[in-house]
Amino acid sequence: MDNNLQNSGTQSDANPQQARTQSTPIADELMDLARRRVALRDKTAPLPSSPRVIAVSNQKGGVGKTTTTVNLAAALADLGAKVVVIDLDPQGNASTALGIEHNATVQGTYEMLHGASTMGSVLRQSQQHPNLWCSPATINLAGAEIELVPSQQREQRLKRAIDEYIAQATQRPDYIFIDCPPSLGLLTINALVAAGEVLVPIQAEYYALEGVTMLWDNVGMVAQYLNPAIHISTILLTMVDSRTNLSREVENEVRTHFPDTVLTTVIPRSVRVSEAPSHQLTVIGYDNNSSGALAYREAAIEMAEKFAQRDASAQ
Ligand SMILES: Nc1ncnc2c1ncn2[C@@H]1O[C@H](COP(=O)(O)OP(=O)(O)OP(=O)(O)O)[C@@H](O)[C@H]1O
Ligand SMILES: [Mg+2]
Repeated sequence: MDNNLQNSGTQSDANPQQARTQSTPIADELMDLARRRVALRDKTAPLPSSPRVIAVSNQKGGVGKTTTTVNLAAALADLGAKVVVIDLDPQGNASTALGIEHNATVQGTYEMLHGASTMGSVLRQSQQHPNLWCSPATINLAGAEIELVPSQQREQRLKRAIDEYIAQATQRPDYIFIDCPPSLGLLTINALVAAGEVLVPIQAEYYALEGVTMLWDNVGMVAQYLNPAIHISTILLTMVDSRTNLSREVENEVRTHFPDTVLTTVIPRSVRVSEAPSHQLTVIGYDNNSSGALAYREAAIEMAEKFAQRDASAQ
């Protein structure tokens, strides 16, 4: 959609009054964006009563795990929450998108897993979002999957580091997001053991549910043997193009299968979202009022409100 706006020579913050007088699909979209921007202006998000550790996982590649991690984290941080992102993918894409250096000499998630550094010592503050800290992933992390195999309590490494950090942190985090790699190996198992819940981004495309069944089984297995608390709390539909039948069909299918877990908010396919990482920015930092940024800001608030309702009903 951002493409259309650019092609028409219209910016995302074009005059809504002008748009109202021309009823075209683009004018309607501009009106919708303007309305949502205003609605978000004074919105706040409830803070969780204890730190929420969320593994963002789907073994399918390229479905929007990293984009979702950094943008939900950024949106919540901008709303006043203290947020940590643990980059658990050797590709280091979350570190890049947050503008955090992650060359091989940087201490990060790898050192944390090996117990060579504490989590507090490897966290780097985002320049763009001061309430957000990131544990960078360096290329060294690619070896961790194999190196950890013979070590004791290999599935508990991340959990130990996070628990120790939460217990000792002077500023207790509200959210810790773990950006998982696109596989169900030892790194992802560490995330599922450390987290209290899983957020699954699902790309609105053919075979969208293919990967999710295996993830579901793995979460069930981890719950049975290693971490009884773990469950899939949230599904977020990503790269939705509501103009296509396929996108609508996938959305309907996912909502039918998982009615209580899927967020109402969906993330549209948006050029701004895909451009942001090359500027080492989240889309929230790159173009805060673009359709993708608005959607991530709305999703973050929806998620925080859902969490707060569950917190309240559990007490
Ligand atoms: N809403 C969106 N609109 C347009 N492009 C998007 C959107 N979300 C993600 N992308 C692009 O799709 C690609 C894959 O996204 P991302 O890296 O977040 O997926 P991933 O699941 O983390 O991938 P991997 O499995 O490799 O870790 C990236 O180039 C990203 O910029
Ligand atoms: Mg990724």
